[in-house]
Amino acid sequence: MSIISKDIQKAIQLLTDEQLVAIPTETVYGLAGNIFSEKAIKSIFSTKKRPFFNPLIVHVPSVSSLENIVTHIPKKAKLLADAFWPGSMTMVLKKSSKIPDLITAGKDTVAVRVPNHKVTLELLKQLPFPLAAPSANPFGSISPTKPTHVESYFKDDIKMVLDGGSCTNGIESTIIGFENDEPIIYRLGALALEDIEAVVGKISIKNKKEVSPDAPGMLARHYAPSTKTFLVDDVALEVTKHQGKKIGVLVFNQSLNNDSLTEIILSEEKSMQKAASKLYDSLHELDHLNLDVIIAERFPDNGLGKSINDRLQRATFSL
Ligand code: TXA
Ligand code: MG
Repeated sequence: MSIISKDIQKAIQLLTDEQLVAIPTETVYGLAGNIFSEKAIKSIFSTKKRPFFNPLIVHVPSVSSLENIVTHIPKKAKLLADAFWPGSMTMVLKKSSKIPDLITAGKDTVAVRVPNHKVTLELLKQLPFPLAAPSANPFGSISPTKPTHVESYFKDDIKMVLDGGSCTNGIESTIIGFENDEPIIYRLGALALEDIEAVVGKISIKNKKEVSPDAPGMLARHYAPSTKTFLVDDVALEVTKHQGKKIGVLVFNQSLNNDSLTEIILSEEKSMQKAASKLYDSLHELDHLNLDVIIAERFPDNGLGKSINDRLQRATFSL
């Protein structure tokens, strides 16, 4: 039987019973548990095979819930919260002593977000506790943007995926940390850099790739298909280097018009937003076709293109 269901009451029951439920958000599906249940939080890490040094995002129903989670809200954090929540932005702030160390990997900060999804906002409003929710995929693999993606990863491990349809933004939230009360980008994501700068001015990016980064989702290889994947400027040229192989190509808006390839065009109308929303689903699809190689086209380096390139870079052996 399918574990995909629209029954919010069942989700509430399972979560109250310290079990996990995969929840929809506008970015990607999350693997959610009660932040105050040690049992639930440990099972998030074990289900995902995620190392304990990688802290979790706390999901709350409203900007006002922030006061219970953090001890200090810098002026620019308040501006950002008012501008973008509910939405695809996560902020890392000084944590309240109420937040368990298991959530934050022992750090004195906590990541928090108000997701912009009707079903999950309703769920969060009804629950007496916030939800910790990393993306609902095994550590390192492609994030899920449809209920079926989660089901194929975890049908033997969890009892329910709360069905909220396909994720409209399709890549993870943008993570913003604060140093001396000034915002810094820790992870590029579904909220474009330019939109953030319109609210708080020029902002620096610390989108690190080393082994113990500020935001460990930034490990160099992450969001990765199991098929060998390349990220290039000139897809047609790269194709000529893989003659005789089964090739999948992922392009922004223009077809290569080559029948010997499996091709996915992310947005014929050249919309970065549309491309971002289809990105992971397309990678899932190509990855299931037993291809020898996937060749992805690099996006223009602005707006959401920057975030899409960041994810493709981590999914690939780039040239
Ligand atoms: O869009 C999203 O953010 C999705 C949905 C489900 O909300 N969640 C998500 O979670 O992408 P996850 O666990 O895959 O990525 C969370 C990132 C990790 O890279 C983690 O290192 C970072 O947030 N993070 C969490 N707490 C942190 C902290 N205290 N300081 C710095 N980074 C933190
Ligand atoms: Mg993740």
